[in-house]
Amino acid sequence: MHLKIVGSAAGGGFPQWNCNFHLSRAARNGAENVRPRTQSSLAASANGTDWIVFNASPDLRQQIAATPELQPCESAPLRSSPIAAVVLTNADVDHIAGLLSLRERERFAIYATGRVLAVLQNNTIFNVVDPALVERRELALNATTPILNWKQEQTGITVEAFPVPGKVALFLEDETKADSGFGTEEGDTIGLRIASDTGEANVFYIPGCARIDDELRARLHRAACLLFDGTVYSDNEMATAGVGSKTGQRMGHLHISGPDGSMASLADIAVERRIYVHINNTNPILDERSPEAAVVRRNGWEIGYDGMEIRL
Ligand code: MLT
Ligand code: MN
Repeated sequence: MHLKIVGSAAGGGFPQWNCNFHLSRAARNGAENVRPRTQSSLAASANGTDWIVFNASPDLRQQIAATPELQPCESAPLRSSPIAAVVLTNADVDHIAGLLSLRERERFAIYATGRVLAVLQNNTIFNVVDPALVERRELALNATTPILNWKQEQTGITVEAFPVPGKVALFLEDETKADSGFGTEEGDTIGLRIASDTGEANVFYIPGCARIDDELRARLHRAACLLFDGTVYSDNEMATAGVGSKTGQRMGHLHISGPDGSMASLADIAVERRIYVHINNTNPILDERSPEAAVVRRNGWEIGYDGMEIRL
């Protein structure tokens, strides 16, 4: 299996258009220790021909332009794409808005939970990706789903979707249910085990996760690779940076650092490669020379970047 992180930033990207925090400034100014990053997305292929895009970010057009594997090859038909399917892990803007760039009557398939498919159904702008051409297929939870192209042929990739603690998309939050997760229900946020139907290597892709429990720890045990929510380094870093008042928890994201953070919670899990993705523009690990980036690396984590490749 060949995987490519096509976008490693959280919603807003890095630098974010309206952000003047020192990290966005450094990225904008071309600092060599601070790489710009596009919004959250991953691509995978088991057969080298069919590519599955996990999360369709608002930067998808730019990401395709930067990723030859996602472009039509020279011998392909006049209108074609190697993107066989798009799989969604939630309905956040940074994970669905890119669907709007996949119009022009190209056929592929969309996979998501019933909750996320309902968001596409209820927001009719997504009909620009005509459901008559682009089939929307429901992902069952805790079951293995082979990802098929529009012709219902195997792509060689299978996924297992499982619910993880998280939050309903920001634009769907119900303020009257502030005490009970703003209306969050099972299926709003999932993690994925991605495998090829020939190999035994497991990759876990969990770009949004609010809590790590024993069940998740057990699931991840012996994975070849984990791509995990690296939104914030500290729960209150947005407030400390002065850019906003929301904590990581309020946004449905578990922080990296501290005794209850993802780094400590996953320290004793046998995972060969662990990589942070979905990194927010306030996260100090974006500066490769920061003490926080050094701590993360010392703890065996890699810091995801656009174009990063994983071969299993
Ligand atoms: C998130 O990951 O928390 C969302 O992408 C937030 C947002 O919609 O900006
Ligand atoms: Mn996001």
